[in-house]
Amino acid sequence: MNLKNYLLIFLIHLILMSCGLPVSVNGQNKYTSFTPGEIWEDNQGVHINAHGGGIVYHKGVYYWFGEHKGQRSNAALVGVTCYSSTDLYNWKNEGVALTVSDDEESPIVKGSTIERPKVIYNAKTGKFVMYFHLELKGKGYEAANVAVAVSDDVVGPYQLVKNSRVNAGKWPLNMTDEQRNSTVNSADFDKWWTPQWMEALKEGLFIRRDFEEGQMSRDMTLFVDDDNKAYHIYSSEENLTLHIAELTDDFLDYTGIYVRVEPGGHNEAPAIFKKEGRYFMITSGCTGWDPNAARLLTADHIMGPWTLHPNPARGEDAELTFHSQSTFIIPVQGKKDAFIFMADRWRPKTPIDGRYIWLPILFEDGLPVLKWFDEWDLSIFN
Ligand code: GAL
Repeated sequence: MNLKNYLLIFLIHLILMSCGLPVSVNGQNKYTSFTPGEIWEDNQGVHINAHGGGIVYHKGVYYWFGEHKGQRSNAALVGVTCYSSTDLYNWKNEGVALTVSDDEESPIVKGSTIERPKVIYNAKTGKFVMYFHLELKGKGYEAANVAVAVSDDVVGPYQLVKNSRVNAGKWPLNMTDEQRNSTVNSADFDKWWTPQWMEALKEGLFIRRDFEEGQMSRDMTLFVDDDNKAYHIYSSEENLTLHIAELTDDFLDYTGIYVRVEPGGHNEAPAIFKKEGRYFMITSGCTGWDPNAARLLTADHIMGPWTLHPNPARGEDAELTFHSQSTFIIPVQGKKDAFIFMADRWRPKTPIDGRYIWLPILFEDGLPVLKWFDEWDLSIFN
């Protein structure tokens, strides 16, 4: 290439970069910033298809796992997808990490519902462990199961090892003997949502109802603490109460230790991070695919007590979390106290077109704050 052409290409790159547009290098899109809500192309120029996702960082690479969504269907027709990146802006399609089954007997048969997959790495076993919310084909949201899949390789293929409710036959740590032994049961109520019913719910109505079968688990995330203990955090009790359940050392099972958080608080879409020994959790309310105001919870211990704070979002559309719902919080590697709020702007009629709302977590008076940016980059954390 002669000098003139080289300068011309250099100039075009500069102009594109200053507009935040992807720059094409050897046919690969090159992003240098985040543009929340816009189409986000992978290395093949296709809008990333990894909704309700989460990220695991391994050996210098971020891996983004998410729900593959179809043109018209929210059902799992493909499985859980995986993308990789070293800079968080540019993502390479790594294909399908967990594939749905053609076998009608399989819990993950094509047409089942697979939501909010999260992957963590277990250094002891050398296995990557994926948890996701699983609903059985044709059964709506009735099953409220969690499924576990494992792989030796981060990008998969992941093999389903089990799916079930959570902690059958176990009481939460923070439920009193009186609540455990209460004879109040669901059949005592003709109607839901009355003040009496809500009081009974808070006192453990559904914990007792689901005690034998195990607790419901829908929207969920995973968290690995500094001491390598891992936790499954999920919406339980008909999405009314969050639970935090400790996992065994191999991350494949529960230790039986778990707590209820905000009984009756209707928290979904939990996303968690830890900063300077304190735990922060951002959740949403419960309005299906429609956005609502985020919530913030903090605790000094993962098992609580957790304190509820007002919506951390600020500014225009804060009451709708900028038209999005939380899914994960990414600790940015190599930068101190740098965290990215990762959320979905669902498009239930054309699910494949769902958008990703990634925003920096800023802090005011020690608490996380979310502000809208049309465009931003990691230098915000410097
Ligand atoms: C949302 C939930 C999503 C999905 C949806 C179905 O509240 O966060 O993951 O389950 O409901 O309506």
